[in-house]
Amino acid sequence: MPTIQILAIESSCDDTGASVFVNGQMRSNIVAGQDVHKEWGGVVPELASRAHHQHIVPVVDKALKVAKVDKKDINAVAFTRGPGLLGPLLVGNSFAKGFALANDIPLIEVNHMQAHVMAHFIEDPKPPFPFLCLTASGGHTQIILVEDYLNTKLIGQTRDDAAGEAFDKSAKVLGLGYPGGPLIDEWAQKGKPTFTFPEPKMPGYDFSFSGLKTAILYFIRDNTAKTPDFIEKNLADLCASIQERIVSILLNKIKKASKELNISDIAIAGGVSANSRFRAMLNEYGEKYNWSTYTPKNEFCTDNAAMIGITAHYKYLRKEFADLSITPSARLKI
Ligand code: KG4
Ligand code: ZN
Repeated sequence: MPTIQILAIESSCDDTGASVFVNGQMRSNIVAGQDVHKEWGGVVPELASRAHHQHIVPVVDKALKVAKVDKKDINAVAFTRGPGLLGPLLVGNSFAKGFALANDIPLIEVNHMQAHVMAHFIEDPKPPFPFLCLTASGGHTQIILVEDYLNTKLIGQTRDDAAGEAFDKSAKVLGLGYPGGPLIDEWAQKGKPTFTFPEPKMPGYDFSFSGLKTAILYFIRDNTAKTPDFIEKNLADLCASIQERIVSILLNKIKKASKELNISDIAIAGGVSANSRFRAMLNEYGEKYNWSTYTPKNEFCTDNAAMIGITAHYKYLRKEFADLSITPSARLKI
């Protein structure tokens, strides 16, 4: 079999990533984050686009060097087509097109949400088909029935905010920085879930997090009115309680889907799957309900180009190449 060497680019939000895959094996995975958003409490799209411009060439260079692959030997270049922020997506898209044209190689478009699921095929253990994957990120919360590498069915999703957004917005109310998920995770480890927040009643496998966000906001507002240093005194317990509720909402839907569809291979993906309590509770549920559970390494949960590379590898095998006229799609569906 001829060698398949793929360069993959990720630029959907605020991480510039490049990765090299050789015959489906990851050889490098470089990510440059963007601190510029911290002082704004969220991602500023125009600042993100500019930072991607600055990072993309050095990040690609490093990915090729670490992989010890010359750019002339790359057989295809892949990029994230969407969903994501249009400006950042355009940077990756334009770079990939230029690289494809200059080296006369095919271009491969990758759906970012499909890639989060495919992160499970970067390293062992890999889930067997069919399996259920709960993907929870900053912009999406989805339950996906995965029937084959590139054959997926969306069976449930959030009707409003994403799980990551629930973490980020709660962190903002608590006066923590951005992104809030990892900070809540860290604080929660020092506390106990002593406060109870409501679980939304959503039909089927759909989610809703906006009611929870409002409940948290009002709870903090009312208690701070009575006790001005309420947050300061209870920060660790508040974080543990918020985290417990978000994680239990996610797991209860997986439990329902697993039972009704009779599938016991359960995977989690996306930035929120880096959450330590989510990972621990998934294992607890796994033991209780006899599931085999799959959690990618943290570096493959949050945005990265390795997940784009592995998806592109399977697309290359199917010869699913994109035309050079392709444009990014901010709301691309899975
Ligand atoms: O998948 P991702 O890196 O980017 C998107 O595609 O959105 O996900 C980012 C989201 C953010 O909302 C961030 O707060 C959340 O993932 N996140 C976490 C943790 N690490 C990242 N949420 C909870 N606990 C974590 N440890
Ligand atoms: Zn993502």
